[in-house]
Amino acid sequence: MLRPLAFLALLVVLVIYLKQPSSTRHLDSPAGYEKSKAVYLKNQPQKAFVQTKRTVAVGDLHSDLPQTLAVLKLAKVIDDSGDWVGGTDTLVQTGDLVDRGPDTIAVYNLFDKLRKQAQEAGGKVVNVYGNHEVMNLGQDLRYVTEEDFASFGGRVKRKEAWDVRTGWLGKMIYRNFNITYIHHGHTVFSHGDMEPEWARLGIDTLNRLASEAIWNSNYRASIFQSTGPIWSRSHALEEGGEQETCKRIEEVKKTLGVNRLISGHTPQYENGKILSICNGSYMVIDTGISRYYGGHLAALEILEDGDGKETVFALYPGGKRQL
Ligand SMILES: *[C@@H]1O[C@H](CO)[C@@H](O)[C@H](O)[C@H]1NC(C)=O
Ligand SMILES: *[C@@H]1O[C@H](CO)[C@@H](O)[C@H](O)[C@H]1NC(C)=O
Repeated sequence: MLRPLAFLALLVVLVIYLKQPSSTRHLDSPAGYEKSKAVYLKNQPQKAFVQTKRTVAVGDLHSDLPQTLAVLKLAKVIDDSGDWVGGTDTLVQTGDLVDRGPDTIAVYNLFDKLRKQAQEAGGKVVNVYGNHEVMNLGQDLRYVTEEDFASFGGRVKRKEAWDVRTGWLGKMIYRNFNITYIHHGHTVFSHGDMEPEWARLGIDTLNRLASEAIWNSNYRASIFQSTGPIWSRSHALEEGGEQETCKRIEEVKKTLGVNRLISGHTPQYENGKILSICNGSYMVIDTGISRYYGGHLAALEILEDGDGKETVFALYPGGKRQL
């Protein structure tokens, strides 16, 4: 009597699972967070002076040092020995340096070295918090590999290292990461999607809210919940359809005074290409760079000419394509 019933239940679960779009099947989600309530506040759009510059951006790297080195070489900001050769370029990394791979320590140390070398050369390295940075800071270790634990000398030592007040890695991250970044007034970067309700707060407020929440170990803060800038996939999955998505993206552009939104977080590992929708107003640069997601190398390049016009390219091992 019970056997056929159990079998039927299993079948139903399987059918529901398979009916999900395959691109959402392998995505992680926050641990029991409620949908955050929209917050409506006024914000002053920000504009910065634009000069002739080169900017490159790379998505999720997930504790994979060889792929990290490969993508930064592809972006022409490091040489064969892993040193900064980007001159006055800006490198933006949109978060998720950690989890799913073994090279956590090496990857964070690489970015720390590049940050200093870039600064000396007149360039800049920008790191943005991903949901996996926040999870690790909050000791949500669901995606940490055994090799990763071992590389820190075990679980206790790893926990100590990630403490934002006393740990070498926690302090490094807390000092150098923000939840959002606007580059030269034209491009806003975040790990997950920037929804209009959050954009209205302005990036200084978003950065302060995230920073304060982390300092106070408040990992249930609304900014870290599913509609917030480290978890949202609403633009990437075009929730509500293409038109509605482009409308919401347009709203964010207007609020923040930018020309485009760049996110990581939603791996485009099925084709390994940068996703660009709404006439280049929104791009996803998480192509599945780490071997865990297939090892698809890609970087975004933004060139600014003297008149303040930006041209955006996708860089692949096979060549460069204008977006
Ligand atoms: C983080 O953001 C705040 C406010 O937007 C800014 O003042 C600060 O310099 C940023 N920190 C880093 C390391 O970029
Ligand atoms: C994109 O640009 C084309 C041509 O300029 C225009 O016809 C179209 O409506 C635009 N699409 C969106 C979603 O803005």
